[in-house]
Amino acid sequence: MGNAQKTLPIADKGYCLGVESTADDFGVGIVKFDGEILTNSVDSYIPVEGGIHPREAARHHAEVADSVLCEALTEAKLKPKDITCIAFSMGPGLGPCLRTGATVARALATYLQIPLVGVNHSIAHIEIGKLKTGAVDPVTLYASGGNTMVTAFESKRYRVFGETLDIALGNCLDVFARHAGLKNKRGLPLGAAVEQLALKGKNFISLPYVVKGMDLSLSGLLTAAMAQLQKGSYSLEDVCYSLQEHAFSMVAEITERALAHTEKREILLTGGVAANKRLQSMLEAIAQEHEAVFNVVPQRFATDNGAMIAWAGALAYMQGIVTPVEESYVKLRWRVDRVDVPWMN
Ligand code: ATP
Ligand code: FE2
Repeated sequence: MGNAQKTLPIADKGYCLGVESTADDFGVGIVKFDGEILTNSVDSYIPVEGGIHPREAARHHAEVADSVLCEALTEAKLKPKDITCIAFSMGPGLGPCLRTGATVARALATYLQIPLVGVNHSIAHIEIGKLKTGAVDPVTLYASGGNTMVTAFESKRYRVFGETLDIALGNCLDVFARHAGLKNKRGLPLGAAVEQLALKGKNFISLPYVVKGMDLSLSGLLTAAMAQLQKGSYSLEDVCYSLQEHAFSMVAEITERALAHTEKREILLTGGVAANKRLQSMLEAIAQEHEAVFNVVPQRFATDNGAMIAWAGALAYMQGIVTPVEESYVKLRWRVDRVDVPWMN
């Protein structure tokens, strides 16, 4: 989408196959240009211990790519020759992981002699949220393991109204959970483990609350929460509860201010942390106060997935945007506000 060429006529029929590989998930989704999602296959790399090791995750992606791809095509009941264009996550994300997905996408597009569309991963999170909820022009809170930002469409692009100055919300919860010795039980994300414990918290502990202008900082809160646990004066449930209340209030505060400033009528919550019921309820309350509609992306489309890349790719392609293979290098820090979204005009 960034260095895109506008060469193709606007197409309104076809299928876009999207490849997602920014972090721990390798996903392939296929969508029809009218927005119907035919399939959304994913295989996740689960580290034996600790956080994601980029090269290990990339190796996982290379190993599972062919089976995920075949599964997606079979489920969609399509042959490779039926696909109109190939979209892939061009960034932001982890270098080795992005490169593996890009290689798969380039090989497919070249072999099938069809166009390639490089997609901004953050835009894909927003667009799949709009598609699945019916939101049209929302203020979006995108909160995941690697990103925390509040965006809204204004003069050609999704502008960033506020964001984290250090770690992402999901990462904050994950690091705390690992520090507390929690494990990914039965594939349950660490953030969900914190959420369950927080429900049993009774005491509100005062922790750092850092909102600077429209941005926020979570590292001080994380350090203080870990120190509280170490001290042992409060239960793990109390610390989980207090950590969530502080962190979610911060993101809710900047979301509310973006809503008031832009005067949009919708809030959209997306990214892996969108699954959290407490965060949902805070944003819902804000939406109500401003007479706005609250939307939350269904979970399988909130976490990283190929369908969202396919859909963002289809939107771009229908505007005539393609990415020549020789310009399809990945962009590790590709910001959402560097990309025009002509389908919003
Ligand atoms: P991105 O590349 O967009 O940054 P990601 O690789 O972090 O994405 P996601 O699946 O979007 O992947 O988000 C994962 C994050 O969501 C993890 O930090 C996880 O702990 C968090 N998460 C999942 N479920 C919950 C929940 N119920 N409550 C809080 N956090 C959750
Ligand atoms: Fe993501």
